[in-house]
Amino acid sequence: MRILVTGGAGYIGSITVRSLLDAGHEVTVLDTLEKGRRAAIDDRASLEVGSVGDRAALDRVLPGCDAVMHLAGYIEVAESQADPDRYFANNVAAPTVMLAAMADHCVDALVFSSTAAVYGQPAVSPITEDAETMPINAYGESKLAFEKLLDSVAGVAGLRSIRFRYFNAAGASPDGLLGEAHRPETHLIPRILAAMAAGRSRFEVYGGDYDTPDGTCVRDYVHVSDLAAAHVLALERLGTGGPGAVLNLGNGRGYSNREVVAMCAEVTGRAVTIDIGPRRPGDPDRLVASHDRATAELGWIARRSDLHTIVEDACRWHSTHPSGYEKGRPQAPL
Ligand SMILES: NC(=O)c1ccc[n+]([C@@H]2O[C@H](COP(=O)([O-])OP(=O)(O)OC[C@H]3O[C@@H](n4cnc5c(N)ncnc54)[C@H](O)[C@@H]3O)[C@@H](O)[C@H]2O)c1
Repeated sequence: MRILVTGGAGYIGSITVRSLLDAGHEVTVLDTLEKGRRAAIDDRASLEVGSVGDRAALDRVLPGCDAVMHLAGYIEVAESQADPDRYFANNVAAPTVMLAAMADHCVDALVFSSTAAVYGQPAVSPITEDAETMPINAYGESKLAFEKLLDSVAGVAGLRSIRFRYFNAAGASPDGLLGEAHRPETHLIPRILAAMAAGRSRFEVYGGDYDTPDGTCVRDYVHVSDLAAAHVLALERLGTGGPGAVLNLGNGRGYSNREVVAMCAEVTGRAVTIDIGPRRPGDPDRLVASHDRATAELGWIARRSDLHTIVEDACRWHSTHPSGYEKGRPQAPL
């Protein structure tokens, strides 16, 4: 099939692109390169530099496409709180242009990267897709707004969409060639590994008095390769005329911040002392997915999402790419 992958130069997008190509699909990436890197895109894919809100770019890349995988967007919670307009413009208004262009070019299948942030602070754990959606930040609000738009468009234009609500994407491609290089990096595992690579002996986690076994927050980490595999399965379903769905993607087991730091120490052989800092406003005790629906509907299994494999793969990437896709800012290897 011919697939347009928006945000295909980013962390999850680049690894998804490679999985799609390996599965025999033809891929075009549409990315502004504002956050993503050209070097992250597999040579077998073609690249259109542009926004999902750019109608002329969409008219160049959509003809002949069978489906769109929409991963493009802004992803920083704190930034979304400081500048919600920018988040709604890029995560809702811009891809609305894309939906209109898809309808005009008769592309009726979409896979959308939504997020566990749509649930806010759910009272239940594990979280099923039927849990109430009550985002507590503008990032989550913007992703939920686009999900709702997809509901409306489904009724009018017959669009079939699979909306993946990812939990915490983590890890790197097992060969160590593609990985996480956000700017700024706010995700826990790359921050711990960067601290270790910089020779720091202490690492601060946010809060130690949560209602969890060791007092630190518990989160659900899902390997980026498992996310990519889910996209290939979603495409097979939509490509054979299957219906849309809302599906959580998580490992179904949570790990506390302390457990994550300990695993990084075990894998790298570098000890680090944990300092307990203040809580971050709005951080729930525990966010763990139920992935039963993704397993039942797609046959998806989180094969690499145990914490040891995630950290080992992340470590391989960060050791060989200490400055991400940038060259010339070396750090001590892990
Ligand atoms: N990383 C996670 O843990 C996580 C968790 C839940 C959901 N998600 C969602 O997954 C998607 C990918 O996340 P990621 O971690 O790979 O982020 P990323 O920042 O690495 O990748 C996003 C890509 O989108 C591009 N982009 C942004 N706005 C664009 C636009 N208007 N038009 C075209 N390209 C644009 C960026 O240049 C970048 O290459 C996002 O939609 C994010 O909300 C990520």
